[in-house]
Amino acid sequence: MSEHTSEHRQKSGFETRAIHAGYEPDPMTGAVIPPIYATSTYKQDGVGGMRGGYEYSRSANPTRTALEGNIAALEEGERGFAFASGLAAEHTLLNALCGPHDHVVVPDDAYGGTYRLFAKVESRWGLTHTAAPVSDVDAIRAAIEPGETKIVWMETPTNPLLNIGDIEAVAAVAHEAGALLVVDNTFASPYLQRPLTLGADVVVHSTTKYCGGHSDVVGGALVVRDLAVAERIAFHQNSIGAVAGPFDAWLTLRGLKTLGVRMDRHCDNAEKVVEFLSGHEAVEEVIYPGLESHPGHEVASRQMKRYGGIVSFRVKGGEARALEVCDRAEVFTLGESLGGVESLIEHPGRMTHASVAGTDLEVSPDLIRLSVGIETVDDLLADLDRALGS
Ligand SMILES: Cc1ncc(COP(=O)(O)O)c(C=O)c1O
Repeated sequence: MSEHTSEHRQKSGFETRAIHAGYEPDPMTGAVIPPIYATSTYKQDGVGGMRGGYEYSRSANPTRTALEGNIAALEEGERGFAFASGLAAEHTLLNALCGPHDHVVVPDDAYGGTYRLFAKVESRWGLTHTAAPVSDVDAIRAAIEPGETKIVWMETPTNPLLNIGDIEAVAAVAHEAGALLVVDNTFASPYLQRPLTLGADVVVHSTTKYCGGHSDVVGGALVVRDLAVAERIAFHQNSIGAVAGPFDAWLTLRGLKTLGVRMDRHCDNAEKVVEFLSGHEAVEEVIYPGLESHPGHEVASRQMKRYGGIVSFRVKGGEARALEVCDRAEVFTLGESLGGVESLIEHPGRMTHASVAGTDLEVSPDLIRLSVGIETVDDLLADLDRALGS
């Protein structure tokens, strides 16, 4: 990319960056879309004479490079890194930034897989953690162990209760203690929220969700703003090797190009679903950060462009009724995961959050989580109405 083009692109709008950042049409063929470089190795022009720095595809692959440049531009970071899954990204990050006897503060309602990584994997290597509510800055400050805490980890909004953490305030608390702030931005996506511009040091993504957006690829990403942190991650990305393959990187990059339009439709549809559920007699409570009654509404309004495509709600009649609603939905497919173009419905107590039953993280048995897709909204509302038993 010429310097002029690169500077121009950095200053351009989100959708322009989503479509163009990270890749210039191939100089030889003019290919507008990066090819899937299905190659493990690269011919050298004499020993050490690498073309563009490519030597072996664990270290770097041009399709992955395009994705990494693109997601870095979307998050307004300095460098991006693409991994085989969100958890692979998280594991690499923890290895890069922490050692034995270090300490991490984690949200008390973190994604279960993230919590399991801390509680059952990293703990075996001496990394300790304390859980604190993401919406309570004082509790996060109190959980920090001065000198030992290397990372304050947050998700906002959280899964499935959609709690909101104040990124700017938590960044100040983390930095005061000499720790880095890591924000899992999976639920919001960079279209709705850019944590690095609010003081976070590292952004984590399960690109499996909104970034990929089509439920056809599992992937993860890290984006950083500090080049010294980037160097540590780059070293560990190559040393651990849990990288995104070229086809996965290509699918994720294709998804990112339409992130803005998809997110707007996810939000439009979610708002209509929230309005519908809020007036429904079979519904006990609707949880959505866009509602003024949501305790995180004010912070979410400050740091998010809109409120996202995930809606949680509690039904009247307890668990049996919630399970029935999940079973009766048809356009909303019963399944785990989220962030794809298709609407999904799930029962967190029995599905995504079954592993935290009996702990402080246990969710209410009458809770249902929706990942509102981009189908015709009237079909979504009719489906929910039918499922709720009208
Ligand atoms: C918020 C969040 N972070 C991280 C992950 C882990 O990502 P992956 O499933 O791509 O490993 C998930 C997966 O559901 C998630 O929801």
